[in-house]
Amino acid sequence: MNPSDPLNFDRHTFGSDFVWGTATAAYQIEGAVDRDGRTPCVWDTFGRQKGKIKTGETADIACEFYDRYESDLLLHKELGFNAFRFSLSWSRILPDGVGPAHGGRINEAGIAFYDRLIDQCLQLGITPWITLYHWDLPQALELKGGWPNRKIVDWFADFADVCTKAYGHKVKHWIILNEPLAFSILGYFTGQHAPGRRSFRNLLPVIHHTALAQAEGGRIVRQNVPDALVGTTFSCSPIDPFTPGDQSAAIRVDALMNRLFIEPSLGLGYPSKELPFLASIAKKVAKPGDMERLAFDFDFIGLQHYFRAVVEQSYFMPYLWAKDVTPLRRNVQTITEMGWEVYPESMYRIIKQFGQYEGIKKIYITESGAAFYDQVEKGQVHDKARVEYHQNYLQQVLRAKQEGLPVEGYFAWTFLDNFEWAEGYRPRFGLVYVDFRTQQRIVKASGRWFQQLLTEELVAVR
Ligand code: BGC
Repeated sequence: MNPSDPLNFDRHTFGSDFVWGTATAAYQIEGAVDRDGRTPCVWDTFGRQKGKIKTGETADIACEFYDRYESDLLLHKELGFNAFRFSLSWSRILPDGVGPAHGGRINEAGIAFYDRLIDQCLQLGITPWITLYHWDLPQALELKGGWPNRKIVDWFADFADVCTKAYGHKVKHWIILNEPLAFSILGYFTGQHAPGRRSFRNLLPVIHHTALAQAEGGRIVRQNVPDALVGTTFSCSPIDPFTPGDQSAAIRVDALMNRLFIEPSLGLGYPSKELPFLASIAKKVAKPGDMERLAFDFDFIGLQHYFRAVVEQSYFMPYLWAKDVTPLRRNVQTITEMGWEVYPESMYRIIKQFGQYEGIKKIYITESGAAFYDQVEKGQVHDKARVEYHQNYLQQVLRAKQEGLPVEGYFAWTFLDNFEWAEGYRPRFGLVYVDFRTQQRIVKASGRWFQQLLTEELVAVR
């Protein structure tokens, strides 16, 4: 489809049960990092080290969502979304990282904050979707070894138990992890994200403990909230070879980027045929019985898709023997502020790819969106490129749905401009512009476009 082709959908085309939401993460929006008993997480510590956040900024204030959630959710309602995805700050709820089962405290003020937030959603008729872990590991647990320490599986189980006991009677949509691949590789192997560790030695234990926590978390939610829909999310991208000779490089990158965490959860084990170094997990890291414990029958899978990847063979990248061919090198015209290629068809392809797994029952697009440079002109933000991004990616979601793939919702990343991790506040992904000096909110043209799609009885028009 060409950006100039007319859209051929309105919200009814997606069906009346289709979920329309935005996705957010605690650390990126809440601020209030030292309020009401919250203790630091790895991002607080990492962000204070020189040079780790490109702009030198911190998330201490972010969008002040901790104080502004009521008016922000009213705005969310006004835009017409019927679901709101947010994550729980682990160290706001369990300041020692561990829960009572391991001698830690529960912070009642932290529990109360999310309770108010959930109630506000419910009062507005917005379905709350909780993510248990969106990258903000309590610093107290990092000091005890973090994800490379096998005990993390029990610590995470504590956290899942406390949260589901607190909110399970009201919240029926639970996501265990946000993008396990991103936090394990960037946090413990390349060091670009918190806690900023760089070692190959840690990588396999981190992967394995994450995959175990993913399944264990699923079991706890199911046990404590039997009527919940339980899912988890994956970052994913179709992988294309740069030249026909790069086919095997593409297969290896696909195993790493798209298969590493879904396949163990489906009982298929790690993709070690394509990536032989993963075989050491079963031989050296896993304990007896672990390989069976990796499986859990999730009710849904959340796909988080932004771009496709094009790769080539590389002898300089150990274990993977492949590297990315950047959009710049490929002369791609539409690139976002993150340097990502805008390539709508990749949305259709990735849904199709995951739809081929027998064990996947339902798919939600739990994140998709784009950072473009936004300018406020006469109090308005005309983010045409972002409007087109969502229109064209949604068109491809619809294409997959009409072919019978079980895709049942779309969460735009993201509601408010926010703290974009190591990039600071510069890349703006929001449907709502945030002036970080005044905390003023301005609904962008993209937010208005969703509002029109979701609230008006009109066929969507450009
Ligand atoms: C993450 C978000 C992030 C977004 C844009 C996803 O990988 O879940 O936290 O802000 O992508 O980079």
